[in-house]
Amino acid sequence: LKLTTHQSHSLKGEFSTKSIPGIPGDKSISHRAALMAGMARGESRIHNFMDSGVTKVMLDALRQLGVEWRLNENVLIVRSEGFRDWNTPQQVLYCGNSATTMRLLAGAVAAAGVPAVLDGSESLRSRPMDRIISPLQSMGVPIKGSASNTAPLVISPRNPSAPLSGIEYTLPVSSAQVKTCLLLASLAADGSTTLRESPMSRDHTERMLEWLGVPIENSFDANSHTVHMYPIRSGTLPSFELVVPGDFSSAAFLIVAGLITPGSEIVLKNIGLNHTRTGMLDVLQLMGANIATSITSTSPEPEGDIRIKSSDLVGITIGSEMVVRMIDEFPIFSIAALKSSGYTKVYDAIELRYKETDRISSLCSELSIIGASVSEHSDGFSILGSKEIQGGTVDPHSDHRLAMSLAVAGLISTMGVTVNSAEIINESFPSFFDALNAAGAKIHCSDPGQD
Ligand code: S3P
Repeated sequence: LKLTTHQSHSLKGEFSTKSIPGIPGDKSISHRAALMAGMARGESRIHNFMDSGVTKVMLDALRQLGVEWRLNENVLIVRSEGFRDWNTPQQVLYCGNSATTMRLLAGAVAAAGVPAVLDGSESLRSRPMDRIISPLQSMGVPIKGSASNTAPLVISPRNPSAPLSGIEYTLPVSSAQVKTCLLLASLAADGSTTLRESPMSRDHTERMLEWLGVPIENSFDANSHTVHMYPIRSGTLPSFELVVPGDFSSAAFLIVAGLITPGSEIVLKNIGLNHTRTGMLDVLQLMGANIATSITSTSPEPEGDIRIKSSDLVGITIGSEMVVRMIDEFPIFSIAALKSSGYTKVYDAIELRYKETDRISSLCSELSIIGASVSEHSDGFSILGSKEIQGGTVDPHSDHRLAMSLAVAGLISTMGVTVNSAEIINESFPSFFDALNAAGAKIHCSDPGQD
């Protein structure tokens, strides 16, 4: 698919998880909810489940482990005997492009004690897995990666009735995927687990485990976060019913589209507003964005409404802990920076090089194709903003967030932006085109085979 966007007059509309087109359920929470429902004993129901490329690989893997599930519209119904009764998978657990699936599943499979092989696409095979391999090994999990500590990951058989050891560990890099992997593995540990990270990454797992009755304590010291989890007495997780909030990281595309298109006003409802995820809102407000939020519910996750009006933005410098609070938003944030006056500089963001693609280098190369004044640094990038950019044809490097960000850039281009291979957007926001179209954007979708 090719997606082309042009300068548009004004974007208007109200979108929620229930509207059509709407905002998909949160990807991180959908992954965790599906996996924890599969680890729980009994029947669980997950409303607003984000049904897309990346969560499909998680569901396929769960089926191989003996978990039954069905999707009824966007309600995922999961039945399981609990992780201690999981089957040995007969095939490789294929995680596609999804590092979240691979890292979270590795922790759950380790807890279950079944042997398994976890593998994925070429891009996933190039992402670092040493960050889970070595702490899992110290817990007693027989896991190995390739010679370069990447996928495929092989988990060998172990005596499932022998518990793993709890671990006291400081994460070398803040990572919610690593934290989750280790907390899930610790469900089968006989002692407590203490994980420290600085700055704090998203805490959806801690919230969900605590909500399910797992004894968890959080403590904060200056910039560092410590989570302490005690062994679970019941031996398994209880089944549950959960409503997933809208994905802030998907809402982010509409937020920036509205901010940079003059005369726009967009309202987004029931969106996840977890503080560990909403760094981009704080940064945009500091840049002069007209954004108002209100929280409507808090348990297990804060969610609420976001109202934005188009605004004149001023460039900013961001680094350190703010980077973790907006780690998935840099591609779309860079488009807000394009339309800001003066320079925007991002540093301390080397982790962007280990995402779906090297997000620093692919972002900088595609932005310069469309006429942006951008320069790449080892741990970030700088952009000199302007009123509009020229436009052109770009490649999203198989990265859903880069594809959507470049499409949004077309809204401030003189000649339009065409994104090739735009079907990758289905990985996380299948209704992206329909939502922008409904808001009044000049956006056009064509199948190159039929042109
Ligand atoms: C995720 C954590 C983040 C984020 C990813 C999803 C998660 O990665 O980039 O898209 O669901 O745990 P980290 O592991 O670097 O925190």
